Amino acid sequence: MEERSNISQKFDLTGRIAIVTGGLGMLGNQFADTLTTAGATVALVDIKQQNKSADSRKFSHQADITKFDEVKTALSQIRKDLGVPSILINSAGLDSPPDAPINVNGPFEDYTEETWDAVIDSHLKGAFLVSREFLRHFRSAGLNKGSIINISSDLGLVAPNQKIYEYRRKKGENFYKPVAYSVAKAGMIGFTKWLAGYSAPLGIRVNALAPGGVYNQQDPEFVQAYNQRTMLDRMANIDDYNGAILFLASDASEYMTGTILSVDGGSTAL
Ligand SMILES: NC(=O)c1ccc[n+]([C@@H]2O[C@H](COP(=O)([O-])OP(=O)(O)OC[C@H]3O[C@@H](n4cnc5c(N)ncnc54)[C@H](O)[C@@H]3O)[C@@H](O)[C@H]2O)c1
Repeated sequence: MEERSNISQKFDLTGRIAIVTGGLGMLGNQFADTLTTAGATVALVDIKQQNKSADSRKFSHQADITKFDEVKTALSQIRKDLGVPSILINSAGLDSPPDAPINVNGPFEDYTEETWDAVIDSHLKGAFLVSREFLRHFRSAGLNKGSIINISSDLGLVAPNQKIYEYRRKKGENFYKPVAYSVAKAGMIGFTKWLAGYSAPLGIRVNALAPGGVYNQQDPEFVQAYNQRTMLDRMANIDDYNGAILFLASDASEYMTGTILSVDGGSTAL
């Protein structure tokens, strides 16, 4: 019985302050709710603006995380308003919507430098700038226990199966899952390992979550093709990553750092 209460205490985030970048996004918002449910107060840092939060423990801060002055201002404000964060989820970043133009989702030969820079910066430069500022505050406040979770992707581990999009090319749409997203998500893994080594003496653990694709009313032909590349024969539900997020954020994973946690229905094991 005592063991049982000890294990549930390890998942408790009462009194902890967290930052979720991309916190107004589909998964970022889920991650934030997971942390508040476990007792944390969460600052959502997003380029989009949210006027009013429905939750008394979620606070929105508008910032473009690729711009250092905006990151610096947002983190100073968060420290002033909420306290010093000890949890950071780097979730913000650009993916290409299926209806994006050819320079975003087209053949590699037409992929533009501008799109490459925007996608890479939104994930990698953004995670670098926010993590650097997070560490500065963490150290200056003398904290000694933190967790950073970098959101990678199954596509950071394996190449996109371009055959999934064959149905679109057959319809005349020259669609390919683009290169920069894969490179950015693989970069998040390298960043995770580097930062884990650097941050361990400070008491900050750094891990990556590598999620698979979330069902979001995509084209049924896409969904059918995607399902076949998973062992569990389905895309993820929007809340399928919440358990992994709570595990990585909390003391339940206190002996874990520098690791990539795959939650993808078995797709990268096939
Ligand atoms: N949705 C999926 O199927 C899936 C699968 C694997 C990995 N991921 C990854 O999970 C993370 C979250 O995905 P999501 O589905 O919530 O995406 P989303 O597009 O719904 O949310 C991303 C959020 O990031 C914000 N953002 C983008 N650029 C920014 C910038 N420069 N500064 C501040 N905010 C910025 C956007 O405004 C948006 O709110 C992403 O890193 C994504 O690559 C998603």
